[in-house]
Amino acid sequence: MSEFRLARERGIVLRVTKFRLKSRLHTLLVGSPRASIVYSNMALFHLIAGWIGYVLMCLLGLMLIVFLCFCLYIKYIHLKYDHIPGPPRDSFIFGHSATIMRETSNGRVIHDKFLEWSETYGPVYRINGMHIVMVFVTCPDTTKEVLMSPKYPKDSLVYKGLFNLFGQRFLGSGLITAHNHDAWYKQRRIMDPAFSSLYLRGQMGAFNERAERLMDKLADMADTNTAANMHQMFNLVTLDVITKVAFGVDVDLLKESDSPFPKAIEMCLKGMVHYVRDSTFQLYPKNKKFINEVKESVQLLRSTGRRWINERKMAIQNGEDVPKDILTQILKTAGKEENTENEDEELMLDNFVTLFVAGQETTANQLAFAVMELGRLPEILANVKQEVDDVIGMKQEISFDDLGKMTYLSQVLKETLRLYPTAPGTSRFIPNDITINGIPIPAGVTCFFNSYVCGRLDKFFEEPLKFDPERFHPDTAKPYYCYYPFALGPRSCLGQSFAQVRHTHSSRHVDTHTHTHTRSHPIPSVVCRWRRR
Ligand code: HEM
Repeated sequence: MSEFRLARERGIVLRVTKFRLKSRLHTLLVGSPRASIVYSNMALFHLIAGWIGYVLMCLLGLMLIVFLCFCLYIKYIHLKYDHIPGPPRDSFIFGHSATIMRETSNGRVIHDKFLEWSETYGPVYRINGMHIVMVFVTCPDTTKEVLMSPKYPKDSLVYKGLFNLFGQRFLGSGLITAHNHDAWYKQRRIMDPAFSSLYLRGQMGAFNERAERLMDKLADMADTNTAANMHQMFNLVTLDVITKVAFGVDVDLLKESDSPFPKAIEMCLKGMVHYVRDSTFQLYPKNKKFINEVKESVQLLRSTGRRWINERKMAIQNGEDVPKDILTQILKTAGKEENTENEDEELMLDNFVTLFVAGQETTANQLAFAVMELGRLPEILANVKQEVDDVIGMKQEISFDDLGKMTYLSQVLKETLRLYPTAPGTSRFIPNDITINGIPIPAGVTCFFNSYVCGRLDKFFEEPLKFDPERFHPDTAKPYYCYYPFALGPRSCLGQSFAQVRHTHSSRHVDTHTHTHTRSHPIPSVVCRWRRR
């Protein structure tokens, strides 16, 4: 009995052990409930991973197909435009980009490369950047046809890009960047009167006063034999003039040397160059600090504009007598489109920034280049002085009519812009087929018109590197559509008269009151030592 019980108990133990073994084996093979969840998760993971892999493969395949299609498109563009002469491409996809990057990054003037290509390939040549074709034109007839007609809009590649600067609204839809012809024309019609000779005639007091301030500063420097960085000084005075004549605000930047405003404009201009030329600039962490500075500068310009505009609005609401200046005209551009109040304000700020960006450096650079050449060429300086003495004599205040009498000085300033056009060109989109110099140009390209290149081509100007104001003598034939430092046609410079008054005025003062001992370097350091006359 006991043996029987023992055997039975052993049997139970055996069965229990068997059961445990079985269940271990089952757990191993099939899994416990927890393990089965893990198992099903793993299966799901494998399934998803498989799908992701599949999707990635599809995406890769798709990207390859897109890339091949893009390459085919580039090939098609090459076939379509390669009959236009041009330098050999650096690469199939990027076209001439490597050369352009190389030329811009080593501190050389990119326009010299364009000049070299113009001399080699003639009045119309092509360069490629991926699928985009740019046609550089120096043919006077085409320059006339395209720039004088509203049929050819400004090209969106450059101008739409300047709506923002590193993500910050910059020139927006203001006068320079406005793309739609009707929207631009509405703004231009309102702004024109504030830039007319009639308006500027009434502003001679402001021009005289600012030029006097410059002369006082230079006289002080002459007394202490201090070298003057003329580029910097012209920058400050030009800014003083624009703020006074355009916006009725009196600042004296020659005294307030710590004002952040001139630096902000300089930063915006520097930022603009990088932003337009190199679309990868923002991707490099090393450029972050610079980009932040540029963004802060844009914000400073726009917030200053907002403040001045609001102050003027308040003055108008309070019935105060406000000048009919450029700021008043900017306020009138509001409400002309079907815009919200916010969009109106943004458009006004676009034009505020536009006028500083378009008007300040261009003018200051021209004056600095003129002083640089006068310092190098004593005979021309003597002629200028003679004319200024004849027309102005010892008069303190210069009138608008006096400016018109200084023809030699005006020739000097024109010649300065031939060799050193401070806004070196413009571009237009060509929406229809045209023929340039006998070469058919299919629609869809951007045409570039470069006044730096035209001004230095010997087929237009004999001995082009010689500074010779006689080229612009009133009796000499006018250059035929190869000299356009202020652009041409409907989109030509709004501030041309403004700039001319400003230049003639400053140069006249500089020449009357002082003698120069000029140590001239290329911009940005035209350094002079002045001596009282
Ligand atoms: C030496 C001085 C100047 C030069 C060489 C110059 C040159 C130019 C050029 C070449 C353009 C055409 C730009 C383009 O097509 O992209 C232009 C447009 C313009 N400039 Fe000037 N500029 C000068 C001074 C000024 C000044 C002093 C102001 C205003 C205070 C000004 C305001 C403008 C404006 C608003 C436009 C756009 C016009 C439009 O599309 O309706 N500029 N300038």
